[in-house]
Amino acid sequence: MSKLAAIIAAEISSQGPITFARFMELALYHPEYGYYSTPGLKIGGRGDFYTAPTVSPLFGAMIARQLEEMWRLAGRPENWSIVEFGPGTGKLAGDIMNAIIKDYPDFYRAVAYNLVEISSELKEQQQQKLAGHEAASRFRWPDSFAAINPAGFNGCVLANELVDAFPVHLVEQSNGALGELLVALTEENNFRLQLADPSTEDISVYFNKQGVKLAEGQRAEVNLYAADWLAEVTQYLNRGFVLLIDYGTGARDLYGPHRFNGTVRCFYHHKLIDDPLVHVGQQDITAHVNFTALASQGQQAGLHPLGLISQPQFLLNLGILDAVSAHNDYTYNPEILKKTMAIKQLVMPGGMGDIFKVLIFSQNMEPPPQLTGLDGAKKPGDAK
Ligand SMILES: C[S@@+](CC[C@H](N)C(=O)[O-])C[C@H]1O[C@@H](n2cnc3c(N)ncnc32)[C@H](O)[C@@H]1O
Repeated sequence: MSKLAAIIAAEISSQGPITFARFMELALYHPEYGYYSTPGLKIGGRGDFYTAPTVSPLFGAMIARQLEEMWRLAGRPENWSIVEFGPGTGKLAGDIMNAIIKDYPDFYRAVAYNLVEISSELKEQQQQKLAGHEAASRFRWPDSFAAINPAGFNGCVLANELVDAFPVHLVEQSNGALGELLVALTEENNFRLQLADPSTEDISVYFNKQGVKLAEGQRAEVNLYAADWLAEVTQYLNRGFVLLIDYGTGARDLYGPHRFNGTVRCFYHHKLIDDPLVHVGQQDITAHVNFTALASQGQQAGLHPLGLISQPQFLLNLGILDAVSAHNDYTYNPEILKKTMAIKQLVMPGGMGDIFKVLIFSQNMEPPPQLTGLDGAKKPGDAK
């Protein structure tokens, strides 16, 4: 048994079965042995999974375009904080600032770029990566929103694939009622799931709001952590935007009978693993984001949902294809071809961008502004 598995087993032995959310929190974020806390590459070709920033720097360049427009719509304030939560390798931060330096010098003068990272190992990797960046003096590593400014800030809170990494509760419909799956121990000291009553009323409150009922025997996930996080965002974001990119879908699709076993997935050396109770601390654990819930959690916290759009459409709206052709001199060049193929991954149907969505909120921006990236977007409540 690994050290981390032993720590979790000891917690279960002393307190009884724990929620899956607690198990996931320890498996991913235990300060010493959690998946994200241990040394080594997790994200990218040599890691366990890819994220969009590792596919092409144009992903960051398009987000930079959206961020600059947000700043202009806010009246070009002198101080504007970009707050990236869960920045992983720091690749997106570097790409965004490269694009801002190149294309938007006025915006650059106003920007401070904050990276908020729970894992001290990843924080170190980010600091190393960005130490030689042209914008090195603009990068900061506050531990929390309060550390940016206890009185709050104006700017944009940004997160790519953060919410899918938040710990989730696991539920199962059983004998006509919603139960919760807890993590218990077998006699051989292995982890197993055990059905119990929900550990908190918030779970049934959440489901009642979704207007969905699971089929008998169906499993699903509930992300309560996102609501707390959005409440904290709202507390510290005085004026500006929240831009969330993640994979997932609306409540009706997410909790439909075609997803009978839920959406918890694990990544281990680019292999998809179904069982989250194995390779403890060595595999990533994620669950699809419920964008219907996320939009209403944000709204309940006091944010104004501006729109929900697929990631490919968001990138196309911001001109990713023009950006590709601007780099293309129409002569055969393997490097350019590689870059073009990467963009296809992000925008073509069936590519990795297909199930990714972009949800944007505004805070104290009256009237709610129209953003180029959201052209043709749905109202977040319309997510199916
Ligand atoms: C799936 S990775 C995505 C990394 C990066 N955004 C990317 O797209 O490549 C999730 C990231 O969120 C971080 N994270 C998760 N929960 C966090 C929290 N509560 N506070 C700060 N960072 C968090 C993880 O450590 C990791 O850096």
